[in-house]
Amino acid sequence: MAKKKTLFECQACGFQTPRWMGKCPSCNEWESLIELNKEQVRFLKDSSEINNQTGSNKAKPITDINEDNITRFASGSKELDLVLGGGIVPGSLTLIGGSPGIGKSTLLLKIAGNLANNDKTVLYVSGEESAGQIKLRANRLDANHTKLYLLPEINLTSVLSEIQSKQYDFIIIDSIQTLYSDETPSAPGSVTQVRTITFELMRIAKTLHIPIFIIGHITKDGSIAGPRVLEHMVDIVLYFEGDSNSELRLLRGFKNRFGSTNEVGIFEMNKHGLNDAKSMAGKFFDKDKLQSGSALTVIMEGSRPIVIEVQALVAESYGNAKRSSTGFDNNRLNMLLALLEKKLDLPLGTYDVYINISGGIKINEPSADLAVIAAILSSYRDRELSSETLFLGEVSLTGEVREVSGLTQRLKEMETQGFKKAIVPAKPIEESGIKCFLADEVSKVVDWIFI
Ligand SMILES: Nc1ncnc2c1ncn2[C@@H]1O[C@H](COP(=O)(O)OP(=O)(O)OP(=O)(O)O)[C@@H](O)[C@H]1O
Ligand SMILES: [Mg+2]
Repeated sequence: MAKKKTLFECQACGFQTPRWMGKCPSCNEWESLIELNKEQVRFLKDSSEINNQTGSNKAKPITDINEDNITRFASGSKELDLVLGGGIVPGSLTLIGGSPGIGKSTLLLKIAGNLANNDKTVLYVSGEESAGQIKLRANRLDANHTKLYLLPEINLTSVLSEIQSKQYDFIIIDSIQTLYSDETPSAPGSVTQVRTITFELMRIAKTLHIPIFIIGHITKDGSIAGPRVLEHMVDIVLYFEGDSNSELRLLRGFKNRFGSTNEVGIFEMNKHGLNDAKSMAGKFFDKDKLQSGSALTVIMEGSRPIVIEVQALVAESYGNAKRSSTGFDNNRLNMLLALLEKKLDLPLGTYDVYINISGGIKINEPSADLAVIAAILSSYRDRELSSETLFLGEVSLTGEVREVSGLTQRLKEMETQGFKKAIVPAKPIEESGIKCFLADEVSKVVDWIFI
């Protein structure tokens, strides 16, 4: 008699094994493995063979294949269109993640309203809030329209039958973790549930050619809750960044099968919702309130230069020196501190060092290294830096200050915002109204820093 094939899956990380184990060898969670039933095993097999179900698809020379004609449509928000690479692609599946209260539902309801206003039929599925609650938000966002349909539902089968009942042009699922499928025994939000639901939504998006936006909760470490496979399955992954106490929110692309992930959408939260930010000038710092430990720099967010404030606190340590940073890479901070000890003889080993980037921005480029060093020196010496000066440069392990990309563009932005001086690694090609002081070595920064 043929032996029954079994498959167990970890509900915490999605690890699969044919043998039950008390502790998951992948994520070390105890008693997290559950046995998958026959349908689930078959589903997993199906999903891995999505494009090869019947064997009717035969391989063809690439020269004989016609490319897909991508026709995008505008979302009504210039910033969202920018992150998406030029607009919404029909049939695409987009995942939007972000911390609680950052504005995921607000943004998507506003987009839903914009599209409905543009004669598109939109379905907003909410498993988190009642229809009345969403209506309240829609009043605030001015998103009331007869073509915007609300469906407070958590059952996937009901959601799918609603999708098939009308010709929807755009669908929003708020959120993937609250939906559940009857076909899997696990609780909503579990690995198997999230995977099953995403697979079904992907199938429906591709077959009916409807763009679907899914909201995903994020875990403590900032990644989308659920299996990583979720990010692989969808076409586009966008994350909200920003401090929920400040009004600015950034929407960053992490994956885009239809465009680049270079651009960042910038929004402002106000009582009318999350709207495209008009101007970035002065949004991330207050020139009049700069104190010792603050240094300004210009970062490039996609094609846009933004002036931001780097804050440092250097305080005598009692015990082991602590190093912590928010919005800046901790390993990079440790490297810069080691460099300062070695090149400038600063006894930082006995000091705690904290770094914070204002406005909840996460710096993803090395051009802010010099500003971090300037902020540390300013806090260490308890001397204010000039509020007219900006710092630009990547610092290497040898203490050399390297050039940054788009220097001319960054200097132009400084000029329009009324800054006068910049400490830079190399002479800019184009002249600008900014007086540039060259510092190609970390030790030279000290000469210019308090000018
Ligand atoms: N009347 C209002 N005026 C201004 N801002 C408001 C108002 N009501 C709500 N907000 C803002 O909207 C935010 C809530 O946004 P939203 O519900 O879209 O977040 P979310 O990302 O969907 O959160 P969750 O993950 O909890 O669903 C609040 O944190 C608040 O900043
Ligand atoms: Mg929400």
